[in-house]
Amino acid sequence: MLRVTVLGTGYVGLVSGVCLSELGHRVICADKDKEKIKTLQQAKLPIHEDGLLCLLKKNVSANRLSFSSNIEASIHDSDIIIIAVGTPLDADGNCTLEYVNDCAAKIAMHASKDVVVVVKSTVPVGTCDRIQNYLDETSHFNCVVASNPEFLREGNAVHDFMNPDRIVIGTDGRAKDCMLRLYGSYAMKGVSFIYADRRTAELIKYASNTFLAMKVAFINEISDLSQRAGCDMQKLIEGIGSDKRIGPAFLKPGPGFGGSCFPKDVKALINISDALGVEIPLIRNVLHTNVMRQHHIAKAIKSKLHDGDVLAVLGLTYKAHTDDVRESPAAAILRLLINDCPSITIKAFDPCGMRNAEKILPSKHVTYCGDAYEACTGASVAVILTEWECFKEINPALLKSVMKHPRIYDCRGIIDREKFSKAGFHVRAIGYKAKEPAAIS
Ligand code: UDX
Repeated sequence: MLRVTVLGTGYVGLVSGVCLSELGHRVICADKDKEKIKTLQQAKLPIHEDGLLCLLKKNVSANRLSFSSNIEASIHDSDIIIIAVGTPLDADGNCTLEYVNDCAAKIAMHASKDVVVVVKSTVPVGTCDRIQNYLDETSHFNCVVASNPEFLREGNAVHDFMNPDRIVIGTDGRAKDCMLRLYGSYAMKGVSFIYADRRTAELIKYASNTFLAMKVAFINEISDLSQRAGCDMQKLIEGIGSDKRIGPAFLKPGPGFGGSCFPKDVKALINISDALGVEIPLIRNVLHTNVMRQHHIAKAIKSKLHDGDVLAVLGLTYKAHTDDVRESPAAAILRLLINDCPSITIKAFDPCGMRNAEKILPSKHVTYCGDAYEACTGASVAVILTEWECFKEINPALLKSVMKHPRIYDCRGIIDREKFSKAGFHVRAIGYKAKEPAAIS
């Protein structure tokens, strides 16, 4: 059992802290946001994450997990300090490292014994080495820095933490034993440990996320090709994904990738390549094609709307099973429509994301509704932008009865097209076979 302090209680820090206490360690999750800590101390979650609350309650009751806004005291006699604070992009598209640097400064000042400092935040290559040099110069104790990137998907983060494909550890060798004690139970389950130097571990994170984003961008372009050529997208995905070298994951076409990681990490990798003077045209285009996709979808929706129409938007979060709207394609498409079609009325529903959506899409532009049917009442077009289960279960006849015109644009390919067509809907969907395939000369 190790005494662990996690600095930062966002999606990564909170899930990591709770799961590490579940693995048997004594964990303090610390954050300077007093309100957030108070919420956690009341056994309430500031984020939407399946399975997290019961683990939190279980480990608080077992006295393995606590929360504090006193960063200094939380650092005091830890064996391991995990930095899991945000590294948002600034206006120039560079990673903001002020929160990471602030953690390093507090560790230098308040660590009271030799300690392993684990950087779990996604940081530019070379950051951990810089923090190691800083702590060597400023701390009275032996602070050993390791890079330990996370690969947690929002909405699946507890599952992903407890069932990792691999544990990546960037170290100069001094942190190896301690990290093995931290993750010992995984070693016994046969999880592979990849030990590298810190810079390589930092780049593994960026390269992994960028590859996954590229895979999404790839299938989105293929879905446009497939649709125009009159091919069957589901069979196409099956045929591609059955190749073990490719795999079926991340081959679902949609409105583009979003979230607090993919867009940021691809941009950060492009910045790293610019700083190193290395040309990466393929990766540079991953971002471009993603943004263009949202413009194309907004244009397609706009082409179906007339002045005074009502547009129903189903789904605002960047994906299902989260309340997060950061870099959400739905939000980006809505912004474009608000800008381009001032005369239309936009009504929206999302089962989890409306509280966060309202902060970025004010209710003067969007009417937030209680369910999909309310949002579609009087609408000329309904568009599905997030793959929530509740949208897959929509009753076509009931929906048609409340809409002004039965038109639906399924940007996630989740509804039964035949069922909706039979109910009298005009269905447009990403990935579906075009009724009249384009002639191929
Ligand atoms: C991602 C990485 O998966 C995770 O390893 C990393 O630690 C953080 O970033 P997350 O952002 O939670 O996780 O979402 P993810 O499930 O990866 O989806 C990212 C985006 O790609 C979403 O907008 C999602 O809708 C989109 N996506 C994903 C698709 O459009 N199609 C797919 O098949 C998969």
